Amino acid sequence: MNQQNIRRIGVLTSGGDAPGMNAALRAVVRACAFHQIEVEGVFQGFTGLIAGDFKRLNERSVARILGRGGTILKSSRSKEFMTTEGRAKAIDQIKKHHVDALITIGGNGTFTGAHKLFEESGIPVMGIPGSIDNDLFGTDHCIGFDTATNTVVDAVDKIRDTATSHNRIFFVEVMGRNSGFIALKAGIAAGAIAIVLPEDEMTADELMQILRSSEDSGKSSSIVIVAEGAKSGSAYDLAKKVTDQHPDYDTRVTVLGHLQRGGAPSCYDRVIASRMGVAAVEGLLQGRKDVMVGLVNDRETYTSLEESIHRANLPNRDELRIARILAI
Ligand code: F6P
Repeated sequence: MNQQNIRRIGVLTSGGDAPGMNAALRAVVRACAFHQIEVEGVFQGFTGLIAGDFKRLNERSVARILGRGGTILKSSRSKEFMTTEGRAKAIDQIKKHHVDALITIGGNGTFTGAHKLFEESGIPVMGIPGSIDNDLFGTDHCIGFDTATNTVVDAVDKIRDTATSHNRIFFVEVMGRNSGFIALKAGIAAGAIAIVLPEDEMTADELMQILRSSEDSGKSSSIVIVAEGAKSGSAYDLAKKVTDQHPDYDTRVTVLGHLQRGGAPSCYDRVIASRMGVAAVEGLLQGRKDVMVGLVNDRETYTSLEESIHRANLPNRDELRIARILAI
């Protein structure tokens, strides 16, 4: 299988951590051990790559991390790696440590950096999609998205108890950067009256109409899910616009924030992380480079890093239609 004569692989996690990154790391390290490849764990993401923060890992180094949230390799958002000079330092470290290929576990920003590193050095790079935002093209799901949406649903179920008790309208803001995947999935699963996505222009007036008609049909409390990237405003902005127009509405805002990134990965995230970790190693050994591994229709696939970054992965519009029907 090792057509590339790869003897040592480096692996790092970068950008926002996502539940299941440890499961992916474990799979990478154990697949390497299986194929008799050495592994250098790179700590602190690209910051550690530049600084030479490397540590040799073996199959036992990744024991008992499958179910742990966060990333034992730690992570960073490195400004220095965005510069040619920073990447040149990283390339020197890769060569100094005799690393033949690099696996990067992360999202959009991680793959942008990895792709540049490949262009400037020719060192084979492989991406594993780990991001709660689920915004990468070339995989049905990114690692961490399932756990994050379950966390949101659990939180919204709890918020609903108090919303119902007080006849209130809660505006719950969820993460996702410019993407509405978390908002849409969690909105359907938690029975939101309205879901405000960056990909869908819902004005405050439209929201007002939805709230009024639900009140007319007898609803006394509601949950509005707002994606943090929504163009019509934040959860606070929208709540204010609604109360300005209808002061009788008793509104509250909850911004779920970073709790969405934490916690033990779900079964689904552990499984996809394990599959992608093995496929990342085996893809490199087969000569694939400058690509991201993904799972599309339950099959391992490889998409060029450029395509994975630049092609839009959009939420399913039919799910939005369904959410509207069910919110009647
Ligand atoms: O990309 C993951 C993510 O959690 C986004 O949903 C969010 O916008 C961002 O990271 C927050 O970044 P930070 O942890 O640097 O504040």
